[in-house]
Amino acid sequence: MSRILVLGGTRFIGRHIVEQCITHDDDITLLYRGRSPSPFSGIARHVLSDRRAPTSEAAAALAEPWDAVIDTSAQDLEDLRAVLPLLGDVGRYVLISSCGVYRRDPGSNGLTERSPTIPADAAHPVRASATRKLRCERYLERRLASMAVPLLIARLGLVIGRHDDSERLAYWLERALRGGDVLVPMPDHQPLQLVDAADVARFIRTAIEQQLTGIVNVAGPTTTARVLVDTVLTHAGRSVTACRVGEEFALTHGIRPWTEIPLWLPASSPEIALMSVNTTRAVRAGLTHRLLKDSIAEALTWQALRRRWSQRWLDRSREQHLLREWHG
Ligand SMILES: NC(=O)c1ccc[n+]([C@@H]2O[C@H](COP(=O)([O-])OP(=O)(O)OC[C@H]3O[C@@H](n4cnc5c(N)ncnc54)[C@H](OP(=O)(O)O)[C@@H]3O)[C@@H](O)[C@H]2O)c1
Repeated sequence: MSRILVLGGTRFIGRHIVEQCITHDDDITLLYRGRSPSPFSGIARHVLSDRRAPTSEAAAALAEPWDAVIDTSAQDLEDLRAVLPLLGDVGRYVLISSCGVYRRDPGSNGLTERSPTIPADAAHPVRASATRKLRCERYLERRLASMAVPLLIARLGLVIGRHDDSERLAYWLERALRGGDVLVPMPDHQPLQLVDAADVARFIRTAIEQQLTGIVNVAGPTTTARVLVDTVLTHAGRSVTACRVGEEFALTHGIRPWTEIPLWLPASSPEIALMSVNTTRAVRAGLTHRLLKDSIAEALTWQALRRRWSQRWLDRSREQHLLREWHG
């Protein structure tokens, strides 16, 4: 049992981490703003504050002794500048970061923890959030070293699972639940690496116990777009058919990869490089992976209860119009 302060913890990955800590009987405090409702009332202590401007209650909580601080919500330096000076006796600090910080080198043979990162001052709009994350990593490395607090930076790949509010896997889940002919633009062999948030959470809790420090990649096993789409469609329990129109057809008809059809990365996309993350260090330290079909089945059950369609996704009538054209 450990005393753990989670900076965040109420939405998706943080929520899974808190659930995991609770199963270990940890004494948990969540510091968050209260915009997302916490499912842990009565189980964990809650301190409501914006971390960028801590209230006196938050300042007092930060100054308490903690076996570990797990930071799921640091997105930029402003999230750290107000918090770090208030910390007292902290056993270790875990930053949830992202594999997005790696440089996208074409033909890269797998991203290890030593692979080059993007410049911390890069202005590329798509990578702006990764740039900010990298600045957080660097800041924590400097500041925590001077405070002699061990730091673990967990760089996560694409995470899926219950409570995933992003518009990525949810597209395929929702599309499958709606049934009928589904336009699939991805080539069968497009690589994907998806890690279940429950596996991330179990790993983070194990890593704390093992006193792991430094940088660690936490990503899923490599799979393909074909396997993912087939798994989602098979488990949806609806009458649904994949229409594999191919990348060229989809691109010439102006369908936007990733935004209109999430998880589609055209062969020319530099982001493909992020689908070959080497997780040897994490696996040696205890990362295990659920079967994709089990993750998908659970995510489908969750999606079936929320049933949300994003305005950014490929419109159903346009999809059916394109499919009529494709069928000729
Ligand atoms: N999803 C992926 O595939 C993926 C991949 C790589 C990395 N990541 C990283 O994973 C991390 C975890 O994300 P998550 O949303 O799942 O975590 P989470 O801990 O479940 O949710 C985010 C938490 O942060 C709190 N928060 C946000 N801004 C705050 C502020 N200024 N002050 C205090 N609390 C604040 C939110 O609550 P309130 O809004 O109520 O304050 C919420 O509790 C993120 O850092 C993300 O970059 C995700």
